[in-house]
Amino acid sequence: MTLDGATPEAIAQAVQALAAGELVAFPTETVYGLGADAGSDAAVARIFAAKGRPSDHPLIVHVADAAAVPLFASRAPAFAQRLMDAFWPGPLTLILARRPPMAAAAAGGQDSIGLRCPAHPVAHALLLACAQAQPPIRGLAAPSANQFGRVSPTTAQHVRSEFGDGLLVLDGGPCQVGIESTIVDCTRGAPVLLRPGVVTREQVEAACGECLRAVEELPGQAPRASGTLESHYAPRARVRLMDAAALQTALDVLGPEAAGIAVYSRAILKTPSAQVIRRRMPDDAVETARQLFAVLREFDAQHARLIWVETPPAQPEWEGVRDRLRRASAG
Ligand code: TXA
Ligand code: MG
Repeated sequence: MTLDGATPEAIAQAVQALAAGELVAFPTETVYGLGADAGSDAAVARIFAAKGRPSDHPLIVHVADAAAVPLFASRAPAFAQRLMDAFWPGPLTLILARRPPMAAAAAGGQDSIGLRCPAHPVAHALLLACAQAQPPIRGLAAPSANQFGRVSPTTAQHVRSEFGDGLLVLDGGPCQVGIESTIVDCTRGAPVLLRPGVVTREQVEAACGECLRAVEELPGQAPRASGTLESHYAPRARVRLMDAAALQTALDVLGPEAAGIAVYSRAILKTPSAQVIRRRMPDDAVETARQLFAVLREFDAQHARLIWVETPPAQPEWEGVRDRLRRASAG
């Protein structure tokens, strides 16, 4: 069932469902999340089951505001506090030391926890109403509302196409950011970028007052098993990244087997056949992030077999889009 997330009745119904241990999909500014009470191991288990996701794969816990952080995290270094001040509410997730026994199942058994305070008004209204419920629900564990390994949903319709009509979905319109939050690990002494997003490396470093490090650079630390190792966020069609010249060459040699080829490029290319599905990639990284997952889903819906994507520019603001496309084209 889909409800208009802007209405107080829908929020009340969602809180009731969450309190009963059920799942509720809700919009955030990045992508739609598949939410459950982070304090209920049974409810969290339903997320893993619905997504087909391995249960040692940690989930992000969403909170109404930074005041909820000490409930879930035992400590936050000063640079993490600066990141919350600069970017919350917003598309940034912080990995902090978990306060046991809080949210053990949501954290996939790790001694750390991912926390995020989303900026979307529907997410905010839901989290606030949860915090005010009796008994209160202090956090919502919510991965992206898609089957494991697939493209994240940026509309309520995308969520329905993943889970059917049995799931309660709060509709908050299309997501404005379009790719998942930037994730910074704050448990290793220095900030480590685990997943790039629209909050850029430069913005994180400026707000932290510290350089982002790679895990391998930090003495005595091995990367933990984590979902950031997830190989792809993939559509059904095979995705290939090419520069504009290679793309044009591939199109030139295509001949009549153009059916099932989709092209997403900034460059204006000569297409040999009207059968080639074309979408123009915006010149702007923010706009490209906003539409990227919807475009990949549209290509699938148009029965593309192959999606040829022009490699995005190398500038820092494109890092999130480059990362998602690289994953989509892996394997
Ligand atoms: O924008 C987003 O972050 C969206 C919306 C719904 O908030 N959520 C999202 O969740 O993308 P998910 O589960 O699809 O991705 C969460 C990522 C995974 O790669 C996971 O491994 C990582 O966060 N993560 C969560 N908790 C972690 C932890 N304690 N340590 C390391 N990585 C963690
Ligand atoms: Mg995901």
